[in-house]
Amino acid sequence: MTPKKKLIEVALPLEAINKAAAREKSIRHGHPSTLHLWWARRPLAAARAVIFAQMVDDPSAHPDLFQTEREQKKERGRLFKIIEDLVQWENTTNEEVLQKARDAIWESWRRACAENADHPRARELFNREVLPAFHDPFAGGGALPLEAQRLGLESYASDLNPVAVLINKAMIEIPPRFAGKPPVNPDVKKKADLAGRVWQGAQGLAEDVRFYGQWMRDEAEKRIGHLYPKVEVTAEMVKERPDLKPYLGQRLTVIAWLWARTVKSPNPAFANVDVPLASTFMLSTKAGKEAYVEPVIEAGSYRFTVRVGKPKDAEGAKNGTKLARGANFKCLMSDAPMAGDYIKAEGRAGRMGARLMAIVAEGTRGRVYLAPTKEHEAAALNAQPSWKPDTSLPADMRSHWTPPYGLATYGDLFTDRQLVALTTFSDLVGEAIARIKRDAIAAGLPDDGQPLAKVGAGGTAYAEAVGVYLGMCVSRQTNRSATLNFWDMKGENVQQVFGRGRQVFCVRGAERLVHGGGRRLRRTAAAVGKSV
Ligand SMILES: C[S@@+](CC[C@H](N)C(=O)[O-])C[C@H]1O[C@@H](n2cnc3c(N)ncnc32)[C@H](O)[C@@H]1O
Repeated sequence: MTPKKKLIEVALPLEAINKAAAREKSIRHGHPSTLHLWWARRPLAAARAVIFAQMVDDPSAHPDLFQTEREQKKERGRLFKIIEDLVQWENTTNEEVLQKARDAIWESWRRACAENADHPRARELFNREVLPAFHDPFAGGGALPLEAQRLGLESYASDLNPVAVLINKAMIEIPPRFAGKPPVNPDVKKKADLAGRVWQGAQGLAEDVRFYGQWMRDEAEKRIGHLYPKVEVTAEMVKERPDLKPYLGQRLTVIAWLWARTVKSPNPAFANVDVPLASTFMLSTKAGKEAYVEPVIEAGSYRFTVRVGKPKDAEGAKNGTKLARGANFKCLMSDAPMAGDYIKAEGRAGRMGARLMAIVAEGTRGRVYLAPTKEHEAAALNAQPSWKPDTSLPADMRSHWTPPYGLATYGDLFTDRQLVALTTFSDLVGEAIARIKRDAIAAGLPDDGQPLAKVGAGGTAYAEAVGVYLGMCVSRQTNRSATLNFWDMKGENVQQVFGRGRQVFCVRGAERLVHGGGRRLRRTAAAVGKSV
């Protein structure tokens, strides 16, 4: 066998690939990366281009067909044009563009088969009717197996990490199994626009992810909505904050509750006071929308108020109770310094608590920052989870910074209210699967009891397939519903746990409204459905 030079060994239209890959980074809508978080994702454009360029011969490998350099250049130009079209995000599902690429791959493959017809294992290795299969043994986010499948290759993926395996299953294994099937949810019969539709590819599956995601969100609101009260703007609040006057009497939806972790004061005079570890008192640094927390010390303790506008003591508001780099703080009551070792020891002794610093609500013209209320602190503190994960966190300071502070298990990374919410959502995935199975059988899928793992294709497997994506929605919620989330003062949003690629011990946690008046899970299900 004489290996033929592949296009990738000679030349690539790099500028077009780079441009498309850079552009893809800003595309969220419908991008497979929105299925689930994964690190170091490769752009699909680059993956598509390199697989294509590895599968097609460079024209110089066939001097019989392309005799002069000019002819070779011309043919290379044709292959480049295919790549330039192929890498465009808009062409991701353009069958005409994809078919041109597949045809070029088959052309090279058939030439290889003809040239190796006398190979002793030609029937097995050089079958002109079967393209070689593709396997990425370190598949990660799955860009390569997905694109190999798109280009017509039988695609396999494996990885050491079970999350990566699930992502790959969700991208390349499950959708083709239910391709062309209509959704099974009861809305399909009721809504005229859905009833008459032709369902191509994974569109039916995606529609069911959206439908049952919405069902989960509605159920969650019924079950745990009371833990997330709205905040009423009272006359008393307006008296202290005239800027709130337009909202007097209104009940605003809370977007986030901002908490400060606390430890006991090291000063014996305040030994019973839980003092805040606040890395800043600023809530919003957006120009013209500045807001900050102002602690008021009274009666041997303290309370938090919220002010709008630029703080008079800008430095004090910026620094909160933080003293220097690292975990060095001062006692709010006495200014006594609290070094990292003291804070860690307090955490390990179980004396680390949390105190509500501010409430962020949704106003008619942006965020409204409010002082904590007793009702809101109680709503969070009264939540009682029926279960808490007790698996230890890895003792690896490169990725997990919390164990030295006494937050040593996965359960320690969530407030009780977050645990109630996340367990509710997890339970709802199981309930949704049972519901989907019933609906699927009613819609005509076989009641064969064969699970997804056994390559079933009936009601059971279908319900589990939709359940995989619903489970991913809950997993995505977890990244936004932990005590390691923090408030982004510029973007005025809750930042995800893995926003910085690893878990960082957060002294100023932001707890987001999870059922989101429902929006977050609904949006997540819509995004996951779209990427399916
Ligand atoms: C750089 S990422 C893969 C990138 C991926 N091929 C892509 O193009 O996006 C490396 C992957 O290898 C996986 N991995 C590391 N050691 C492994 C092993 N011994 N066996 C299987 N997978 C492994 C990791 O979990 C990670 O997902």
